[in-house]
Amino acid sequence: METRGQACGKVILLGEHAVVYGVPAIAVGIDRGARAVAVPVESGPSRLRVRGWNIAVRDNEDGHDLARAFRALLDASREDRPAIRPLSVEVEADLPPGGGLGCSAAMGVAIARAVDPTATDDALQERAMAWERVFHGNPSGIDAAVSARGGCAFFRKGEALERVRVRGTLHLCVGSTGIAASTKVMVDGVAKMRARKPDVVAKTFEGIRSLVGNARVAIEHGDRITLGRLMDLNQMLLSGLFVSSTEIERLCGAARQAGALGAKLTGAGGGGSVLALVPSAAVGEAVLAAWRADGFDAFATTVAPETRARSVEAEAESETAP
Ligand code: PMV
Repeated sequence: METRGQACGKVILLGEHAVVYGVPAIAVGIDRGARAVAVPVESGPSRLRVRGWNIAVRDNEDGHDLARAFRALLDASREDRPAIRPLSVEVEADLPPGGGLGCSAAMGVAIARAVDPTATDDALQERAMAWERVFHGNPSGIDAAVSARGGCAFFRKGEALERVRVRGTLHLCVGSTGIAASTKVMVDGVAKMRARKPDVVAKTFEGIRSLVGNARVAIEHGDRITLGRLMDLNQMLLSGLFVSSTEIERLCGAARQAGALGAKLTGAGGGGSVLALVPSAAVGEAVLAAWRADGFDAFATTVAPETRARSVEAEAESETAP
């Protein structure tokens, strides 16, 4: 009997990079994400196929990050549920890899759900983290936490996710630089800068902490103009950490010119995606048109408090559940 799972991608509204060092960040689940389906097989190894990427691995392969991540996720799942049998899993995502939209975490959570549809969000987050660590080294966990639950969240490393009550709808535009960036490489770059210039980076992180705190209040009060300004300031501080790029600055500039209230990179930077907050769907269309005219892929998304990833149960009871 097959079991299915899905999970949302995410955008970080404010706080990336600093979040790795314990500064809070705010992220929202988006309606694009990942879906997985798992079918038990007679005997091991378990298999994973990524639809659309033409990649298939077995969980006993050592030379492939994807295989090691899959094994780590299965091992973490079996710590709670030893009865999980060998599986053939297929996953697909409508998020660009390395695009700053939490593609790997969404895949991890979707697979974890398909493997064990009865698992709690906390358990799914933990199991997806085992998968994430293989790709990203020491991720803050924001992607997996938001991917498992959706909605708008205030995240602090190692602490329970706090819900942020979004007042009204947030209209967002996401533009892709078309350049895949490695989160690990970008996070390592910030770590190196921190080792060289600890005072500068500490001040930058404190600046980001205050922007995030103020952004939370702005979101809860429906004050989009302030939120947009805070995003612009966050982008300035991220540029100072050398995680921006020419394409990111071009996308941010074009968005502001087309009427966005604020724009910044989202995720690790270096490439990936830019996030623009717009006052209305109509201005969103103008931002998307400006970006597309410049050759960038883009889409619009809205954030309402009810955005939430849900497990998609098996049509019949899961054979993987004990
Ligand atoms: O590149 P993404 O979307 O996975 O986002 C990474 C966010 C960072 O703060 C840069 C890293 C982390 O682990 O939080």
